[in-house]
Amino acid sequence: MLQRFDARNEDILVHVNGELLPRKEARISVFDSVVQGGDAVWEGLRLYREGVLMLSRHLDRLQASAHALAFQQVPTNEKVRQALADTLLANRMNEDTHVRLTLTRGEKITSGMDPRLNTQGCGLIVLAEWKPPVFDNERGIAVITSSIRRMGPEVLDPKIHHNNLLNNILAKLEANVAGADAAIMLDRNGHVAELNDTNLFAIYGKELHTPTTSSCLGGITRGLVLELAEGLGSKTIERDLSVAELMGADAVFATGTMGELTPVRLIDGRSVGRAQGHERLAKLQVAFRAAIPGLCEAL
Ligand SMILES: Cc1ncc(COP(=O)(O)O)c(C=O)c1O
Repeated sequence: MLQRFDARNEDILVHVNGELLPRKEARISVFDSVVQGGDAVWEGLRLYREGVLMLSRHLDRLQASAHALAFQQVPTNEKVRQALADTLLANRMNEDTHVRLTLTRGEKITSGMDPRLNTQGCGLIVLAEWKPPVFDNERGIAVITSSIRRMGPEVLDPKIHHNNLLNNILAKLEANVAGADAAIMLDRNGHVAELNDTNLFAIYGKELHTPTTSSCLGGITRGLVLELAEGLGSKTIERDLSVAELMGADAVFATGTMGELTPVRLIDGRSVGRAQGHERLAKLQVAFRAAIPGLCEAL
């Protein structure tokens, strides 16, 4: 699915290191660590009418990622909340908004890899755009299996939500070439890790299966879906899953803040799912939408 330019985003204001700047003037230093080495962490947030969905969980993950990378002078959650509130207010955004929150290690005194060259503390970017969920959650998406592996903790721990996204981007390039919407990335043993940008689930009868988080992001939507499924009486199982197992599931779907719950209709050209699975997925989608107002945090 190719996102298109939304004219409402032409004149947005972007928060960059404490200043709200028009889109065209929103810049960061060439000495910033994210330019030098992708040395940053990030969160994708979604604003609904009632507030930002599960904001505290996102901010806690941002803090945990920054801590794992030994960032210095990390802004408090209160400061980040304030920057977010200021940005949304300045843009008069109150729903259908996606926010890309980026926390960088900050500016370096000279180019180089060494974090000791960072003497000024972190950089914070709050980029809020008008953006309804990006996937077609009625029709579903077609995916392929990528040759690019998702890194596990032996290379770069996916528990850190970092900006080194090149392996995911390489996988997405393969999906683009194949005319698919997204790519399944496998872990080092050939089990399914996740899609290049979302987590994956498979429904088998009353059970909901998903890969463990050893080689994928512990998605916040993923966590909520596991809670909701339990509430609907499903047994939830986190385990190694193969692509062939996904192909044989009653339904397969992807989860993420960007697109909510998205059915997968085709894997490597094989159609996926059957009526009973689609019904269960539809119930989960309804439960997800019903849970949103109670899980949003007003700013
Ligand atoms: C690789 C990857 N997987 C899954 C997700 C979904 O995570 P969440 O549900 O926290 O948005 C994301 C979102 O940032 C992601 O980048």
